[in-house]
Amino acid sequence: MNEIDLDKIDMMGSPPEHEPERQYYFMAKCREWVREFEQKNGRYPLACIQTFGCQMNAKDSEKLSGILTTIGYVVTDTEKADFVLYNTCTVRENANTRVYGRIGYLGRIKRKENPGMKIALCGCMMQEEHVVAKIQHSYPFVDLIFGTHNIYKLAELLYRQINAGGMVVEIEQESREIVEELPSELKYGFKAGVNIMYGCNNFCSYCIVPYVRGRERSRRAVDIIQEMEELAKNGVTEVMLLGQNVNSYGKTLETPVSFAELLQRAEQVEGIRRIRFMTPHPKDLSDELIDVMAKSKKICHHLHLPVQSGSSRILKLMNRHYTKEDYLALVGRIRAAMPDVALTTDIIVGFPGETEEDFMETMDLVARVRYHSAYTFLYSPRGGTPAAAMDGQVLEEIAKERYDRLIGRIRAISQELAGEDTGKTAEVLVEEINAQREGFVTGRLENNLLVHFPGNEKLLGKYVRVKLLECMGFYYMGAPV
Ligand code: 5AD
Ligand code: SF4
Repeated sequence: MNEIDLDKIDMMGSPPEHEPERQYYFMAKCREWVREFEQKNGRYPLACIQTFGCQMNAKDSEKLSGILTTIGYVVTDTEKADFVLYNTCTVRENANTRVYGRIGYLGRIKRKENPGMKIALCGCMMQEEHVVAKIQHSYPFVDLIFGTHNIYKLAELLYRQINAGGMVVEIEQESREIVEELPSELKYGFKAGVNIMYGCNNFCSYCIVPYVRGRERSRRAVDIIQEMEELAKNGVTEVMLLGQNVNSYGKTLETPVSFAELLQRAEQVEGIRRIRFMTPHPKDLSDELIDVMAKSKKICHHLHLPVQSGSSRILKLMNRHYTKEDYLALVGRIRAAMPDVALTTDIIVGFPGETEEDFMETMDLVARVRYHSAYTFLYSPRGGTPAAAMDGQVLEEIAKERYDRLIGRIRAISQELAGEDTGKTAEVLVEEINAQREGFVTGRLENNLLVHFPGNEKLLGKYVRVKLLECMGFYYMGAPV
């Protein structure tokens, strides 16, 4: 993607001021270092990126991987590498705890096996001051820390670290500019995420995202479409349009474009067969969007529509700007327009002040909507968010007991729903060789469910019609037809 000949870059002069030229200059500089490494060690250095959290982070990791590959690193899955980068998430506390444990483990490998190893941390967790302070104090062997607003600068920061030694820390509070046109290494050759906007302005009272990802910024529609065309040329057939709240796409652009309009333009891109998006906010999912989805041949009939709670009282405390009734009415409109739509959601259990009555409203909503699947989370207080300071924090054992009841109900419903398509024939995009079952591959249905069926690597990235033979809860066993 965006291949540039680093050999043509003048490295004698001072670094260019403008992006992305500046980063290509530093990539070329780092590549000199990589070549020296190769001469000394008889091999190219290995780099490992571990990604925590959401699709945004996964997308950022593809960009980071693209930069490292351009520099000359060989990307590997194992952490016994010469450069290990953790792209972190801080949406819930347990994500943070896991990262600290893993940094300690990396430190031991570095001490005992590879003193030249470089350890880098980036992503949402690093946007929190107390996290950076803790790492500086307790994990001094970390080499590089950067945040969510400057991932495009990896080469420049790495170059600085190589020359200066010690720990390089660069965190920005806001993005000064959106820097694109850098290399990107796709995890799959046939499907890709495309950022359409960055940041979030919603300030749901429990959520740390607006504080670590900054204010909403949309990319220009022409740039998004151009990226899709480029991807299609390179063999990508499925795209996932990414944003924290895709419904507010385009509002701040010089010439505003609605998300529904953007989808209609995306639909015109030749070679793209499936379009998905994440995440819409129920408060402003327009009828225009429902209409565009219903008429489209490419937009998958799957909506991930986070509800968070079924209690209107709690929704108000969460600052969600809709009631239980609003949400149910919206689901009604969506289903009327697309009877075959698969709905999934996110739910938080144990938000401050949640009573048994509130929780029963969530149980009731789940039974009425009938989700194909749902991600359920125990509320986790995040420092600096309004909810963390609210009265009535729910005891952990009460929250856990509610959580278990909710999962039970969700599971029962998704099993009933999934089974409904047994016996039908449907198209899947084959994504992976099945690791558990020899001679099987795994494909994804339009509605996001997985199907395992007999096949080999020749099918990867292909669209195959399969008969859905048996439903195993969250996936089907099938046979090609
Ligand atoms: N505690 C628990 N879950 C949370 N989420 C966001 N913030 C929190 C929190 N503080 C969940 C929401 C969101 C999903 C990505 O993570 O359900 O939709
Ligand atoms: Fe967080 Fe709400 Fe923004 Fe989603 S919409 S990222 S839950 S503030």
